[in-house]
Amino acid sequence: MTHKNPQTREWQTLSSDHHLAPFSDFKQLKEKGPRIITHAKGVYLWDSEGNQILDGMAGLWCVAIGYGRDELAEAASRQMRELPYYNLFFQTAHPPALELSKVIADIAPEGMNHVFFTGSGSEGNDTMLRMVRHYWAIKGQPNKKTIISRVNGYHGSTVAGASLGGMTFMHEQGDLPIPGIVHIPQPYWFGEGGDMSPEEFGIWAANQLEEKILELGVDNVGAFIAEPIQGAGGVIVPPDSYWPRIKEILAKYDILFVADEVICGFGRTGEWFGSDFYDLKADMMTIAKGLTSGYVPMGGLIVRDEVVAVLNEGGDFNHGFTYSGHPVAAAVALENIRILREEKIIQHAHEKTAPYLQKRLRELSDHPLVGEVRGVGLLGAIELVKDKATRARYEGRGAGMICRQFCFDNGLIMRAVGDTMIIAPPLVISEAEIDELVTKARKCLDLTLSALQG
Ligand SMILES: Cc1ncc(COP(=O)(O)O)c(C=O)c1O
Repeated sequence: MTHKNPQTREWQTLSSDHHLAPFSDFKQLKEKGPRIITHAKGVYLWDSEGNQILDGMAGLWCVAIGYGRDELAEAASRQMRELPYYNLFFQTAHPPALELSKVIADIAPEGMNHVFFTGSGSEGNDTMLRMVRHYWAIKGQPNKKTIISRVNGYHGSTVAGASLGGMTFMHEQGDLPIPGIVHIPQPYWFGEGGDMSPEEFGIWAANQLEEKILELGVDNVGAFIAEPIQGAGGVIVPPDSYWPRIKEILAKYDILFVADEVICGFGRTGEWFGSDFYDLKADMMTIAKGLTSGYVPMGGLIVRDEVVAVLNEGGDFNHGFTYSGHPVAAAVALENIRILREEKIIQHAHEKTAPYLQKRLRELSDHPLVGEVRGVGLLGAIELVKDKATRARYEGRGAGMICRQFCFDNGLIMRAVGDTMIIAPPLVISEAEIDELVTKARKCLDLTLSALQG
């Protein structure tokens, strides 16, 4: 490929000579070279060739307040000068982490007033696994170890995170899942609902939780973990019947419920948390991404008061990370949440831009390649099919990847999960930018259809 900017080739050579990229085929990337993103503002990215790209994925679902907010840079710089690092181990603390824990308690659902900080969402879920088992051990029920999760859920890439996740292509590498983690089917009606109506399928999928609890024995089950809406699995919005039935089952059995809010948290659904959107009443919530709008790494686990009361009786919790509650990350998170609140970004998304995005996206349903458009808040998915009526795919043709490439080449980032195109733009996207996103998406659907039929 020829480049307008000679530096592009230089950076690609650095990549090929020295960098091992996440979720990439190393050899293929060496041959092709990565696209180099050099700067960003608002909802737009620029690559090293000068192309402007509308970021329909907010980075990796994280850049809630958009790119280029100087206030976050200033908060980081102030904190670095004041106290660049100290830890929260061994009975010390620092103001940013403490102030942030109070602010998080203020916005979290009622009764969730404590936070354990981590460096990422994966570490949040590792923390969860150890905390759940520690909790039951303190209560004198050490056998309640097993965590039930869902096929095609995503909970991170550490050993516990990838085990909790239900991605078979991840399990295949590294002998996962680790013992004590089991998976039940996902509530993905479009892909797996067969002849059932969405509502019937939602009940069926929820009932799998009860069957699994009974199969394992409730005395052996510690927790159920789920994303309110599966993100990386393909923006899977469960049928309306699903969460109410899951809540009934959880109320019946004595197990903890963990909502993985790493994607849904901090406004993605048009509410502060996916748990608010579905009224989930979780015992623990994993957070990351939108907590700092991705400007610096930070994650955590928000814990319900009743659970904390038990943990308080358990002596030392022998767990923590060098960067748990890092002061610079905490200062950036505080500034990010201040902006989300004071600029009423989530409220504006809830009232204006989310309904507008959902309406405009659904207009794509008339496209011959589109089998379903779904979404909630500023999350959306477009299913690519060969036959709308039977939901049959273009098997083995890589329709999603073809579409993704057309998007990239036409100035739009949409991600492909198999043949499902997904979007999650920054929460600050305007109506005009939504129009641009949908216009570009339609053009790329046209190009994809021609390529598949050509
Ligand atoms: C729902 C969910 N949980 C956990 C994670 C892992 O977070 P991280 O990549 O920060 O470790 C992700 C990342 O995409 C996620 O989507």
